[in-house]
Amino acid sequence: MSEAIAYERVGEIAVLKAQNPPVNALGIDVRKGLLAGIERAESEGARAILIYGDGRTYFSGADIREFGKPPQDPYLPDLCSRIEASPLIVVSSMHGTALGGGLEVALSSHYRIAVPAAKMGLPEVNLGILPGAGGTQRLPRLAGSEAALEMITTGRHIGAAEALDKRIIDRIEAGEPREIGLAYAQELLDAGAPRRAVGEMPAPGMVDFDAAHKAALKKGRGQLSPAAAVRAVQAAAEAEDFGAGLKRERELFQELMASPQRQGLVHAFFSERAVGKLPELAGIAPREVASMGVIGGGTMGAGIATAALLAGLPVVLIEMTDAGVAAARGRIEGNLKGALMRGKITQTQYGQLTGEALTVATDYAALGQVDLVVEAVFEDMGVKREVFGKLDSHCKPGVVLATNTSYLDVDDIAAATSRPGDVIGLHFFSPAHVMKLLEIVVAAQTTPEVLATGFALGKRLKKVAVRSGICDGFIGNRIMNTYRKAAEYVVLDGASPYQVDKVVTDFGFPMGPFAMGDLAGLDINWAARKRRAPTRDPRERVPRFYEMLCEGGDFGQKTGKGFYIYEDGKRGGVPNPQVAELIAEDQEQQGITPRAFSDAEVLRRYMCAMVNEAAKVVGEGIARRPLDVDMVMLFGFGFPRFWGGPLKWADLQGLEGILADIHSYAAEDGFFWQPAPLLDKLVSEGRSFEILNQSA
Ligand code: 3HC
Ligand code: NAI
Repeated sequence: MSEAIAYERVGEIAVLKAQNPPVNALGIDVRKGLLAGIERAESEGARAILIYGDGRTYFSGADIREFGKPPQDPYLPDLCSRIEASPLIVVSSMHGTALGGGLEVALSSHYRIAVPAAKMGLPEVNLGILPGAGGTQRLPRLAGSEAALEMITTGRHIGAAEALDKRIIDRIEAGEPREIGLAYAQELLDAGAPRRAVGEMPAPGMVDFDAAHKAALKKGRGQLSPAAAVRAVQAAAEAEDFGAGLKRERELFQELMASPQRQGLVHAFFSERAVGKLPELAGIAPREVASMGVIGGGTMGAGIATAALLAGLPVVLIEMTDAGVAAARGRIEGNLKGALMRGKITQTQYGQLTGEALTVATDYAALGQVDLVVEAVFEDMGVKREVFGKLDSHCKPGVVLATNTSYLDVDDIAAATSRPGDVIGLHFFSPAHVMKLLEIVVAAQTTPEVLATGFALGKRLKKVAVRSGICDGFIGNRIMNTYRKAAEYVVLDGASPYQVDKVVTDFGFPMGPFAMGDLAGLDINWAARKRRAPTRDPRERVPRFYEMLCEGGDFGQKTGKGFYIYEDGKRGGVPNPQVAELIAEDQEQQGITPRAFSDAEVLRRYMCAMVNEAAKVVGEGIARRPLDVDMVMLFGFGFPRFWGGPLKWADLQGLEGILADIHSYAAEDGFFWQPAPLLDKLVSEGRSFEILNQSA
């Protein structure tokens, strides 16, 4: 018998136990084992079959590592049909997460029981595919078209109670999956219950599938799988029989399986899990963190404190004045009220989090017992060094001292203490209690234990933590500054900011760079430009229209006007006509004759600038692996997940073409478009970024 599926006979019941840790994915051995188990049960004269999973879960889906490789027999859809066709009574007993192909095996069984904590769902669209083993045909037959559409197009996991309510399972029972499954199967046999195949049930009802398709396309912002899944469910309602529906599902599944979006989304799935695995952390235990200090309660400090409180960490926050204390408390309470309104916390929890769990003070002595401190004061080296000096004298030994600086050198900050090994950068993104990205910046003397503590904190706060070395802007802001510059250059040369924003949102970003500037406040970037101006390389092209807008007092959303005009109560803005005048003036002063750019060229320049800078970041060792950059862009900058990240996108487009385009742009502006040495090297060796991910 197969090692992946154990076979056991309990009276008239054949028991098939999946043992393929960690999540009982339905790889080839599991599929072979299931088929062999069904055949053996039938040939041995069993009357029922029980399927369940050993360890932490029932099957959590197809084995994603097999995607893109030649499929191996038995295929999952055929296996599901075979299970359903068995003359014996087949029962699935679910615990843990019955997902994707896993739930499809359960739907092919004749009866389903689950423990109360079991979760189930068809999350395939999040991997760029759709349920391909009958899920789009069987689920609507049980739950109805509308409920099936909602579950399949969102990939949402539902609990056992909701599954029972939707008729997806027949019973909920507390206990071990083997025991509750055996009892249920015996009860069915004793009652003479019939074999009950979902595929033989009547087709589900009609709904407005075209409207659902349109809505899925719009919500997907360029992601195709949810919309394709609508068409598959439609086939369940419209096809002439169950077999024809399965065939349609298969066609749509195969189209998606062959798509670059599937590759992008699977890359995102595995990278999200790989990003926190660092060789230098193997066997290193993080320090215990039972409470946290935060210095500065402005936008970031308040957000960081909120995130810590929501993760169950008591917080001591230090501000400069009593007014600062009150303002910081107000911000944190505002954030937590939002969590309360969205049902994330209860009124009692709100009271506890804003009460005993939160101390806001002006005296650093209050930090005496905290285990980790995050500094989020003004972005000024003098102020930061002074704060770290004070932390050094007030914090107990062994405390991790972190800075949330966006651009400053963490080594210089660490040098203000007598314990630089304890100093690290923890770069949160705004709003810090919402955004998933956390860059963990390693300074020259940061110890592995402190780094491990940073990653452990990231996990506790439910962030995607990415290791970064030190450079101007670390991984994310450095790359963002470069592609934003590329956007400004195309505008200086003739494209409009609105064309750029549209091209970028059509690609799948939630916002373009100019709308983003308006949201963040144009004055912030203006200040950074002024700071950099004295050391700017004379070869750098400098668009002026951005500063001209700021000089007029227009800073974006906060002043009601920037690249767009924001009317009270209206979502989004309308183009500010003054911007075109400023651009024309800038062009005239710089002697530029504007030209038209196609949307494709705008996008290509934007993306080439992003990829080129990302390759520099990897080549210089600031990011360890291409996937680290990809995760930063996905979780901090709204890069569309279905492309996997800029370097996955680059691999999918072909590195040679990207390098050739960079060379052609360099003919106009050789300073900005200097090809990344790593990109040159990969192209000359015929390699991809993916190979670097695998070899790291
Ligand atoms: N295939 C292969 N490996 C898988 C896997 C799968 N379906 N699901 C999880 N893994 C791996 C992870 O990569 C990870 O490996 P690592 O330890 O080497 O990093 C390990 O299993 C544990 O996974 P997590 O760290 O994610 O563990 P959690 O406990 O946090 O989460 C989970 C468990 C909820 C099952 C989560 O892993 C998950 O969501 N998995 C994907 C589920 C899914 O999408 N299933 C549908 C697959 S597509 C399909 O079935 C097609 C069919 O319709 C034909
Ligand atoms: P902010 O101006 O909103 O808040 C700074 C707070 O620090 C103020 O409330 C101020 O009173 C307080 N403060 C100043 N000196 C202090 C001291 N010596 N002791 C105690 N409190 C002091 O600034 P913001 O936006 O919160 O930024 C803070 C830090 O986070 C900066 O280093 C910034 O670069 C970084 N950052 C900002 C992001 C953003 O989007 N705003 C994103 C990521 C990092």
